[in-house]
Order: sequence, then structure tokens, then C-alpha cells
Amino acid sequence: MDWKISSGFLAEMIPLQLPAVIGTEIAGTVVDAGPGVTEFRIGARVVGFADSRAFAEFAVAGAARLARIPEGLTAEQAVTLATAAETALRGLKLLAPAPASAVVVNGAAGAVGSAVVQILVADGHTVIGTASPINHDYVRSLGAEPVTYGTTMLDEITTAAPREIDAAFDTAGQGFISRMAGLVPPNRMVTITDFAAGDQGAIVAGGDPLALTAETLSPVLDLASHGAFRTKIAQTFPFDQLTQALALSLTGHGRGKIVVRGVSLH
Ligand SMILES: NC(=O)c1ccc[n+]([C@@H]2O[C@H](COP(=O)([O-])OP(=O)(O)OC[C@H]3O[C@@H](n4cnc5c(N)ncnc54)[C@H](OP(=O)(O)O)[C@@H]3O)[C@@H](O)[C@H]2O)c1
Repeated sequence: MDWKISSGFLAEMIPLQLPAVIGTEIAGTVVDAGPGVTEFRIGARVVGFADSRAFAEFAVAGAARLARIPEGLTAEQAVTLATAAETALRGLKLLAPAPASAVVVNGAAGAVGSAVVQILVADGHTVIGTASPINHDYVRSLGAEPVTYGTTMLDEITTAAPREIDAAFDTAGQGFISRMAGLVPPNRMVTITDFAAGDQGAIVAGGDPLALTAETLSPVLDLASHGAFRTKIAQTFPFDQLTQALALSLTGHGRGKIVVRGVSLH
């Protein structure tokens, strides 16, 4: 999301006036609260979505955009879950997989994909997840059956599926919805990245980053604090290496989230 905003891909939704601060997700400690805010005291550890943009010494966020970080979870672990869990839960609500059904997740090793896999597995679904071969063990460790997303993907999914596939969750695009249409009706697929797939009948979970709230995050944060939901940090960068962090994100093959450490966390 952040490199897409900084590259201007989302200029219609989020126009930038330079010099601009970017950054969507935050975790840290409340240093001040506006009048009428009763949810969080000064000193509370919180995670969520910044109104003022995240890559800065301080950020401003509406109270509804923040959730408390439970004991047992660091700020760095918590911030890996903000967008990933919110997006996974929002997409799954739209998709509504049938109980105990088989579901395919495209991009299962990614930040959103790994959250989708874990929520589905916890709900008793059989999950088949696409990933590069190097990420197959990781996807398996999350509880999904891994398949490679290349030319053999459809055959591998058919072989891996124990029965008819009910639904698919696309986090990676690359024509996944069109290719899967022979196995799953488009209206049983949700995508968070291939917005043109809506024309084929797929469900599009757009998600305006400026309007996201943290109301769905607390249960996932609690699970993570007990080790029942995996958080994965691909790499942590100091604040002055933000450019390198965005460049790593741009490669599109992250296993987990990239964390930028704010100045105030040192
Ligand atoms: N609409 C919304 O509300 C919303 C919210 C959040 C994010 N997003 C978007 O959703 C996408 C995923 O976000 P993320 O944070 O999960 O990204 P991420 O952590 O970088 O993960 C991307 C994943 O895509 C996989 N991938 C790369 N090329 C692929 C291909 N050809 N086929 C299948 N999978 C492929 C990678 O798998 P390997 O590493 O195994 O190759 C990687 O695990 C991004 O485009 C992001 O902007 C949308």
C-alpha cells in the first residue's frame, strides 16, 4: 500500500502534495489524547491506522482507528497485524465461505494471505494456498496445503483439493481470478488487488485506507498475544532506511511484514 501511494498509483484516492508524509499502519504509545477521548490514556500501547501518516516521529489517529496492544505482544509484532487482519476479516465477511468448506488463498505467504489462511484454518476450513516453492513450508506451518502459483497451479489445486472448492481469496492478482474461473464461479471469489475482476463477477474488497477502523482487530491481537495467531516480520528497518524498506516491499515476495522503527521507539 505504502509504495503504491508513494509511486502515485493511488493518486485518485490519495493525492500527494510534495513534500508528503506516507505510511498507513502504526503501533506505539499514546503521548496525548484529544478532548473527549476516554478509550486510551496517555501511556497506553496502541496499534492501528494513522490519520496523519505513519512514517514520522509522532502520528495522529482517531480513537476508532486504534486498538489496545495486549500484554505479551510487542508494538512491532502488533503492527504486522493491523492491515493484514483488517483486510482478511473484511474480505472473508464479503466472501462468507460455507462452513468447513475448501478455500483457495492466492498469495498465502504474504501479509494478508497468511492472515486469511490462519483465520480460515481456525474456523475449520480446508485451505489450499498458492506461494513460491521457497514459502511452501511456511504456508504448511500456517495450516494450508501449499501449491505453486505458476503454470501448473490449476492442476496442483485440483490434486490438492479434497472435494469441490467453495471459494477463493485473491491477495496477489496476476490474472488469478480469470485462471480460477474454471474451478470456482467468479462470484465465489474475492480479490483485494485485481479491481478489474469485478467486471467478471468477482467480489472486490477495495478498502479506503483513510476510512479503515480498528474495530475488528482486538480478537486477533488477543490470539496473537497467546501465540495462537502467527505474526511474521520479514525485516525491520531503522527510520532513516525507509527507502530500502519500501524497495523491499516493492519486490512483492514478502514473507511477513516489513517494519520501520520510529524514532521514538529507540
Ligand atoms: N484492497 C485492500 O483493502 C487491500 C488491503 C491491503 C493490501 N492490499 C493489496 O493486497 C496485496 C497483498 O498485500 P500484502 O501486504 O499481503 O503483500 P505481500 O506481503 O507483499 O505479499 C504478496 C504475496 O504475493 C505473492 N505473489 C507474488 N507474485 C504472485 C503471483 N504471480 N501469483 C500469486 N502470488 C504471488 C507473494 O508470494 P511469494 O512470496 O510466495 O512469491 C507474496 O506472498 C497488495 O497488492 C496490497 O496493495 C489491498
